[in-house]
Amino acid sequence: MEKNAAAGNGITGAIARSLLNAGVDAITLGDHVWDQRGWESEITQIERVCRPANLPRSNPGWDHLIIEARGFRLGLFTVLGRTYMNLKADCPFLTADRMIDQLRAQCDAILVEVHGEATSEKQALGWYLDGRVTAVLGTHTHVPTADARVLPKGTAFICDVGMTGPYESVLGRDVAAVVGRFVDGLPRKFEVATEDNRLSAVLIEIGASTANAQKIELLTVGR
Ligand SMILES: [Fe+2]
Repeated sequence: MEKNAAAGNGITGAIARSLLNAGVDAITLGDHVWDQRGWESEITQIERVCRPANLPRSNPGWDHLIIEARGFRLGLFTVLGRTYMNLKADCPFLTADRMIDQLRAQCDAILVEVHGEATSEKQALGWYLDGRVTAVLGTHTHVPTADARVLPKGTAFICDVGMTGPYESVLGRDVAAVVGRFVDGLPRKFEVATEDNRLSAVLIEIGASTANAQKIELLTVGR
């Protein structure tokens, strides 16, 4: 999942292609989906990239992906949270219902990304979807959370997978600029930080015959 690859703001076609060429299987997008001018006309030219499913239907781009490996089909989609978020988005709960109905017959497992600010909204979606999807994975806050677990009916859940990027930063941005902005409120350019790069991820084990999750583990690569 990759949402701020273009120097901290959205993604471009060239960056999406380079990530896919590097071996990334799928790219999902969040609230910065349309930050880069021109991306809205490029997005449909690139396979294995999807935009949030609960954006207005007129938005370009696929609302889900199905990745296939060794005969196993994983469906995935992203919903944007609506609490403390600024985009026009439909209800993430009802959108997830609709997407699951659409994907169930075509997939062996379904992964839902919930891109949102409020841990309460993300937890609520995890419980709402428990037993109906293999995983509900939170993103957007950039900070990995310590609550990875498998919910009672077999859905792996975490409030936030965390950021892949520079951890000597404030949410990926230059420390001095962000601290200064908090202290005196003057405008500054928030450059992307460069030090202490880490990859944050989760590893999920699922049952051989069912799509139920058996284990979820937070992984940090680097430092
Ligand atoms: Fe975000």
